[in-house]
Amino acid sequence: MADAPIYEARGISKSYGSVVALEDVDLSVHAGEVVGLVGDNGAGKSTLVKVLSGAHQPDAGSLHLDGQERSWRSPHEALEAGIETLYQDSGLCPDLTISGNVFLGREKLRGGLLGKLGLLDHRGMARIAHEELDRAGIGLTEVRRTVKDLSGGQRQAVAIGRAVAWARKVIILDEPTNHLGARQSGEVLRVMDKARERGLGVVFISHTLPHVLQVTDRIVVLRLGRVVADEPTSSFSPDTLLKVITGLGRSTADVIPEDAPA
Ligand SMILES: Nc1ncnc2c1ncn2[C@@H]1O[C@H](COP(=O)(O)OP(=O)(O)O)[C@@H](O)[C@H]1O
Ligand SMILES: [Mg+2]
Repeated sequence: MADAPIYEARGISKSYGSVVALEDVDLSVHAGEVVGLVGDNGAGKSTLVKVLSGAHQPDAGSLHLDGQERSWRSPHEALEAGIETLYQDSGLCPDLTISGNVFLGREKLRGGLLGKLGLLDHRGMARIAHEELDRAGIGLTEVRRTVKDLSGGQRQAVAIGRAVAWARKVIILDEPTNHLGARQSGEVLRVMDKARERGLGVVFISHTLPHVLQVTDRIVVLRLGRVVADEPTSSFSPDTLLKVITGLGRSTADVIPEDAPA
């Protein structure tokens, strides 16, 4: 992609005490691009997500949004800047409705005096939640249902729909298809396609390599805290991707033949 990335991490290092989780890591995502972030357990994926989303401060390196260097003192600052993150556990409130969850922490008040008194605009929120979930490609639009009555897959769909609905620039999904059945995973992958169509930058973390190969434009592989490959998805086969992840080939050049289909 020739244009500049919408979001970029340069030279990120992060240690936990004596454990080096990330070392000099670069990661970029463009508007309308889905980047897969893969690696074995402990490779540093979640740590990188926490740096990108403002939950952790890096020890070294910089973040650039729309070409401008930024730093986040909290996840809230990254959210305000248009970066949505869906963590491995979705953080929904089971006792609230779907609509209530979509607006969690961003509640809409009623107009006039009632709003000044703190009354919520439930009807307005339900209407917007319905529109946004529909626009995100989520089939689940009965937004007055309570989240505890939904299946695991449906909850995941709500969590993703919420993130896509609010994201203005970047959406980061850490293992969103974990524990989902085939049909539900298909829905999640479709939502990522929609997010790409809307011009968001998408970072997708997953252990399920067929999903990564199916939905991403580019794949970044982390091994022991370092980037060992950053290539268009078309240059990987399932076999070469696995080899790069596990380190059975010493570098990408060892496992990707030069005449690999582009
Ligand atoms: N809060 C923490 N304290 C200490 N070590 C951590 C912490 N979080 C992660 N680590 C370590 O950092 C490394 C990278 O972990 P992580 O980012 O969770 O990798 P991944 O998500 O790829 O499995 C691992 O060695 C892990 O044990
Ligand atoms: Mg992780």
